[in-house]
Amino acid sequence: MTQTVRSLEARYYTDPAVWAAEQEGLFARAWTYAGHEAQARNPGDYFTFSVAGESLFAIRGRDGVLRAFYNVCQHRAHRLVAGQGTTRVIVCPYHAWTYELTGGLRAGPNLSAVPGLDKSKICLTEVRTELFHGFLFVNLDDDAAPLDDWYPGVREELADYVPRIDDLESLEEIEIPEQCNWKLSIENYSECYHCALNHPTFSTGVIKPETYDIQPRPGHVLRHTTESSGLDQMTYPIDTNMPHATEYRSWFLWPLFSFQVYPGNLLNTYHWEPVDAGHVIVRRGWYTGDGHDPQVIRKLARQDRETTVEEDIHLVESVQSGLSSRGYRPGPLVLDPECGVNSEHSIQTLQQWMREAVDR
Ligand code: FES
Ligand SMILES: [Fe+2]
Repeated sequence: MTQTVRSLEARYYTDPAVWAAEQEGLFARAWTYAGHEAQARNPGDYFTFSVAGESLFAIRGRDGVLRAFYNVCQHRAHRLVAGQGTTRVIVCPYHAWTYELTGGLRAGPNLSAVPGLDKSKICLTEVRTELFHGFLFVNLDDDAAPLDDWYPGVREELADYVPRIDDLESLEEIEIPEQCNWKLSIENYSECYHCALNHPTFSTGVIKPETYDIQPRPGHVLRHTTESSGLDQMTYPIDTNMPHATEYRSWFLWPLFSFQVYPGNLLNTYHWEPVDAGHVIVRRGWYTGDGHDPQVIRKLARQDRETTVEEDIHLVESVQSGLSSRGYRPGPLVLDPECGVNSEHSIQTLQQWMREAVDR
């Protein structure tokens, strides 16, 4: 008989020491989504984002390259830019040192007074980037393995599944603050054992829960597959000429991102931004430019926010408070060798990654 596997102990979701270990040992070494390249199409366009508690920004150079830097001035550490915008050069708001779009120091008031100053030696600190079909990922660890080693084959699978993925423009980003540890939000995303009971709209008007399955893929990927609801039951119109029109698929890329393709070949994304041990911001990205009617996408985005997303907030927030209860002992995971919708084998995989990130 195989042994019972129990869910992760509560301290992983509540202990500030675990959170600190994750910042250092996981988020500062993993590939993290920064933004879509369409947010910075022209030279000088920039946008800010955060990784492992650090503020960073991506900016397009005059050479067309999108680079990412720590958002910190090399003089006395003031923050350089906020939000998003366009600029000719990067000007620090504190003492007006200016930097080229490629990060090199260009000028500063009275710098000739600094003996022996070699401006070419002062440069913003750049971080590693990789573009993945227009989605910009960064890694603070210069020694990290490339993105395709973390998620083997996903780049090709996605291009094959969503043929116009390279034509996307971002349409909406919906921000969802959740009062729970980031791992609860990701576990909740990574099983559909709770779907039939909690997501009536999703389970009857988008997908067929009895066909839902989630499988670990090579590297750090969990792939979801299911069929769409019957065409007469769909809550939004789908163009059956689109590839894979009556399927749903998603690729969760550990630790903080997922590409999700709704029936009708509608690509959307999840990006989790952990704030502290008890808070996470979930960002839902919706895109246009791949032949779909933006009105249909906006309507689906609203439906998703009002049903599935709203329903999940209550689930994860209730679990977060339950984990602080003296009365909780971690229960067994339901591991069906046949997998399928009523199995939590994907949670077993995730919780292994969660342990490994902390218990090194
Ligand atoms: S801190 Fe940026 S110019 Fe002084
Ligand atoms: Fe859910």
